[in-house]
Amino acid sequence: MNWLPLLLLPVAWIGHAFALTVALNIAYSCPVHRRFLRTFRLLIGIAVFSFAFAFPWWIDRLTHGPLRLEPITAWLAICLFSGLIILPVQTLRRNLRREPAVVASRQASLLDLRGQPLGFGKHWRLARLPFNELLEVEVSDLTLRLPRLPAAWDGLTILHLTDLHFHGTPTRTFFDAVIDHLTQGPTPDLVCLTGDYVDTVRHMFWIKPLLGRLQWNVAGLAVLGNHDFYCRPSGVRRELRRAGYRVLGNDWTQLEVRGQPLLAIGNETPWFRPESDLAGAPDGPFRLCLSHSPDAIGWAKSHRVDLMLAGHVHGGQVRVPVVGSLFVPSRYSRKYDCGVFHEAPTTLHVGRGLSGREPLRWNCRPEVSRLTLRPAR
Ligand SMILES: [Fe+2]
Repeated sequence: MNWLPLLLLPVAWIGHAFALTVALNIAYSCPVHRRFLRTFRLLIGIAVFSFAFAFPWWIDRLTHGPLRLEPITAWLAICLFSGLIILPVQTLRRNLRREPAVVASRQASLLDLRGQPLGFGKHWRLARLPFNELLEVEVSDLTLRLPRLPAAWDGLTILHLTDLHFHGTPTRTFFDAVIDHLTQGPTPDLVCLTGDYVDTVRHMFWIKPLLGRLQWNVAGLAVLGNHDFYCRPSGVRRELRRAGYRVLGNDWTQLEVRGQPLLAIGNETPWFRPESDLAGAPDGPFRLCLSHSPDAIGWAKSHRVDLMLAGHVHGGQVRVPVVGSLFVPSRYSRKYDCGVFHEAPTTLHVGRGLSGREPLRWNCRPEVSRLTLRPAR
């Protein structure tokens, strides 16, 4: 009995699933219709499981040959390379990755809302699966030391919320409890919202009573996400304005913060076009960009953005121990799934979001972030 195929095929299957998941991630980063994406996801799922059903055929082929260079053997080689080399090396690099030097401190506390009703919104059955962390909110307190931050802004605070996905699961009581907790703390200078507020048109009427309760010293800023794009975006913008937010869209505005100018930039691409035109924007001010997707990092770097806030990818929502996230709807796949990244001149903070259209979170708690900015030493 030749045991080699029996050892290699499970690894090739993992590589096969990983390669197809990367393809799915890239497809989900594109502004294509959700119906196409759902069909593509179904096909990928079928392709992943059909590999296992072909095990006897693979074993016969590998054991008795002939093994010629043809598309099916070439794909097997790619899967083996992916399962043996790419996935382990990428996972190791991710686990060894250090927090960038701009992160001066990080603390997290748990807002445990288990016991709140789960409701009957979209995919409500998923919310009832065991070990779901949907109602365990992590409040992250981060201090960032940023190179171009004006000295007058030492200690400036930003509350960053993203991906609330109002649709009924979790219920409004859950979001009320989160807002209650946030309003009990110090008032932030800026409140920044980076999109995906609703998954149904009728839930846009939660925006004002919930997000309108947040207070700020300087401004509340907002951009829309891909889920808002599919739920009457003009209505979402109207409700955000009614709640007191400046909806940046794909545009910029200049604010004065503690006597210093701040360029606040919105980026709602690729779902809303055209992207912000910064040709007429002043050069000097600190540049803060709110982008729904972290995929705009290249654009932000080329436009000398100092701090970019993003969401969209939900940290992957399901994180496998050691391996981490897998399904991350980004052209960079799981590279910017959550956390802080610094690629000069831009520091990127990607929040895991508060909820999701699919209310399931394993090993990936929902998150709200409070950032304190300090000038670099
Ligand atoms: Fe989202």
